[in-house]
Amino acid sequence: MKKILVTLLFIGGISSLSHAQTRIPPNVQKLLQKNTCLACHNADKKLVGPAYKEVMQKKKYKPEQIVELIYKPNPKNWPGYPPMAPMAQVPKNEALIIAKWIASLK
Ligand code: HEC
Repeated sequence: MKKILVTLLFIGGISSLSHAQTRIPPNVQKLLQKNTCLACHNADKKLVGPAYKEVMQKKKYKPEQIVELIYKPNPKNWPGYPPMAPMAQVPKNEALIIAKWIASLK
């Protein structure tokens, strides 16, 4: 009995550790990859651009505002970063799916 409890605690510990990193839903992951967002952005860590979590902590955007910023970035919002290039090639429906996911991050 004690052994089972220890095993359960151990498994619980591991799964809470892996939760420290944001889980990206597979459909969103696919769009982030296809549209090259991941070359410059990570959900949790600063890369070339700010972490998506940091974007939401600082700015609290609505999905529609994020879609706007994909097409027309505003580098003034992020001093210390190089400017993000406007990404007109991202299809609107894909931009909205990505934007809704980013807006859901805390
Ligand atoms: C070549 C690198 C690069 C790529 C590719 C890129 N970004 Fe960015 N992104 C940046 C940088 C750098 C910033 C901060 C400076 C700025 O906003 O111009 C930024 C800022 C942002 C912001 C914050 C906007 C604001 O004004 O607060 C969002 C949201 C964002 N990117 C989403 C995306 C999404 C979604 C994609 C893919 C469709 C993407 N980015 C692709 C580099 C990139």
